[in-house]
Amino acid sequence: MDSLPSHPIGVFDSGVGGLTVVRALMERLPFEDIVYFGDTARVPYGVKSVDTIKHFTGQITEFLLEKNVKLLIIACNTMAAVAADVVKQLALDVPVLDVIEAGARNAVAQTRSNAIGVIGTPTTVNSNAYARSIHHLNPNVRVYSQACPLFVPLVEEGWLDHPVTRLTAQEYLKPVLVEKIDTLVLGCTHYPLLKPLLQELAGPQIQLVDSAVAMADQTAQVLTEIGLANPQRHLPNYEYYVTDIPLRFQTIGERFLGRSLANLQQVKWG
Ligand code: DGL
Repeated sequence: MDSLPSHPIGVFDSGVGGLTVVRALMERLPFEDIVYFGDTARVPYGVKSVDTIKHFTGQITEFLLEKNVKLLIIACNTMAAVAADVVKQLALDVPVLDVIEAGARNAVAQTRSNAIGVIGTPTTVNSNAYARSIHHLNPNVRVYSQACPLFVPLVEEGWLDHPVTRLTAQEYLKPVLVEKIDTLVLGCTHYPLLKPLLQELAGPQIQLVDSAVAMADQTAQVLTEIGLANPQRHLPNYEYYVTDIPLRFQTIGERFLGRSLANLQQVKWG
């Protein structure tokens, strides 16, 4: 079936984190319908093997394609890092955008010193996907990456400015900050919630790149270019599908989304 401007945008993530991208999309494109998929039963992906992540990503892509999405957004940095090829193969002529490409573009446009720091999950950092994407845009940029595995659980716990998070962040940022970077990419869905703390620790001379905002800007641009921006101006429809509804899901989800979360449905997979 051909895509129409009135069809929804499909956004997916390993769990609730991708709601930071949904939030940025809602602000940037307030008339677009969105279907969100979060694999809350199998999160976190950031510490799983590449084969497993590819398999899960394929299942999610097929689910969203059945919803007739006009565009697919890989909101999860980890999936974008190791499984974007799976999504593109299945999507055929449905365009696919991902947070890594959007974040990399934004970082390259911002840096003046040509030294960029990237923080993300272990799988994202080990994949080197940000460095590849950045070097593709500008081979002269030096990239310094750091895995921050404890940030995801700390953010989900709501410890956004807790002494434990502050100490952890200081440790993680130390090796990146000595490299005199002027731009730091928040390469994980959860990190935008740590922005105030990370900005304070990094100092005013370092610009943070929020991949969620970069993603929303790129989506707006691409939809216009391909003639699929929704011209209608009525209230949009938002649907959320998750594979589990764990304890405190609503609270955590609303923290990420910045508004109430309705139309939530659980998908049961074998
Ligand atoms: N969504 C993941 C990311 O952006 C973080 C959570 C996870 O490890 O699954 O990398």
